[in-house]
Amino acid sequence: MSWLNDKTKDLLSRVDELNRSKANPFFRPMENVGARVKVGSGSYVNFTSNDYLGLSRDPRVMKAGIRGIVQYGTGLGSARPQATSIRHDELEARLARWLGYEACVTFTTGYQSIVGTLSAFLDDDVTLVLDRLSHASIMEGMLLAKGEHPELEVRYFKHNNMTQLRRCLETAEHGKKMVVVEGYYSVDGDLGKIDEIVALCRELGAVLVVDDAHGLGALGPTGRGVGELFGVKDQIDILIGTFSKSFGGIGGFVCASRDLIDYMKLKARSFMFSATLPVAQVEAAMAALEIIETEPHHLRRLRDNGEFFRAGLKDLGFDLGDSLGHITPIFLRDEVLTLKFGAYLFHGGEIMMMPFISPGVPPGSERLRCNITAAHTKVEMTYALEALAKIGEMLEVLPAGTKTKAGNLERGIAFATHKLRGLKNAGLPFLWKEVSEASKKASAWLGGNNHTPR
Ligand SMILES: Cc1ncc(COP(=O)(O)O)c(C=O)c1O
Repeated sequence: MSWLNDKTKDLLSRVDELNRSKANPFFRPMENVGARVKVGSGSYVNFTSNDYLGLSRDPRVMKAGIRGIVQYGTGLGSARPQATSIRHDELEARLARWLGYEACVTFTTGYQSIVGTLSAFLDDDVTLVLDRLSHASIMEGMLLAKGEHPELEVRYFKHNNMTQLRRCLETAEHGKKMVVVEGYYSVDGDLGKIDEIVALCRELGAVLVVDDAHGLGALGPTGRGVGELFGVKDQIDILIGTFSKSFGGIGGFVCASRDLIDYMKLKARSFMFSATLPVAQVEAAMAALEIIETEPHHLRRLRDNGEFFRAGLKDLGFDLGDSLGHITPIFLRDEVLTLKFGAYLFHGGEIMMMPFISPGVPPGSERLRCNITAAHTKVEMTYALEALAKIGEMLEVLPAGTKTKAGNLERGIAFATHKLRGLKNAGLPFLWKEVSEASKKASAWLGGNNHTPR
């Protein structure tokens, strides 16, 4: 056995333990996507998706993707300098127009957009200032730049702490400063203080880069993200987005001035040295953008769903931290409890929610992350609230006797609809699972009854 195997031991023995206790929430193989998914013989209400507007299953978006494949095949066979289609140019022009920038460039993933942006612009004579809760892609962009430019100064401020951000900027080692933040933090579900950050950057002469992966399409009166929400849309120097959340596909993009974009197209390594975003995804993103621009009811529904579910969780007494909107972390603040809650929801409640534990989040802030989308129905959310109340009570997270505000009829409808949709989604294997579980429960109950009188 080599040192490579030795390296894997600790982590894999933790995974084995999770598998033995049926609490491993990762890599569950789904047979479809959306608000309800089939896994094995079960059908689950899914709260783990970032497809916030439910567009990945929109027939128009799917048809557009197919059109892209028919015209250009499944890939363009090279990186963008040799493999740019007319449709890439059109999508980039359209995104730039939508967001009010001179230019835009698309990448194959959102992750690459961020890594590429940071590595293209950071140098030995720059101070980079980051929020401590920055996404992995921001950290990787910084690391790549730091490897090439060891004199690059990197400073951190406590999440959303404006006093610390000011101090970082005022005492920066270098005159050239860049601040990189997220618009809507995906693990905590809170907003970056973009209006205050814009003001500080203006005052102290820093360039501002905002990664609005979770806000674009989903926040602001017309879905143009945190810039629109805070009324500072035209004051973000570089705006980064992704097609993997509200657009329902995959790919990323960066909007900025024409010069910055033209420079990035020649300097961003993750753009230059990685294969082009396939036209199928370009077409799908174009169709999704058309829907986002012209059909505001998807955004309205996302908001209504977020408000309904959040109110239900609050009524039950769950700790939601500082979150708002459609990302609703349920803080349990204990690793075993969080894994257990997630496993009970999956096996007992037929619900998928993602447990976040250390090192993904700091110890003491373990949580279930629950993403609401426009594709969830009221009935699905009512059913999920019932399951959360029941399991919360069982695991003593909620006091005994905690009830949702739903009446018996609503509760009955939610439960029956869940079973019927499960049957439609997963078919006969689901029915078989339900019947065999019911018969197990019945025989245990009868067995118990047989013994009691004697
Ligand atoms: C804040 C943030 N930025 C960037 C990304 C990367 O985007 P993508 O998944 O499109 O590569 C993610 C993905 O989860 C994210 O949450």
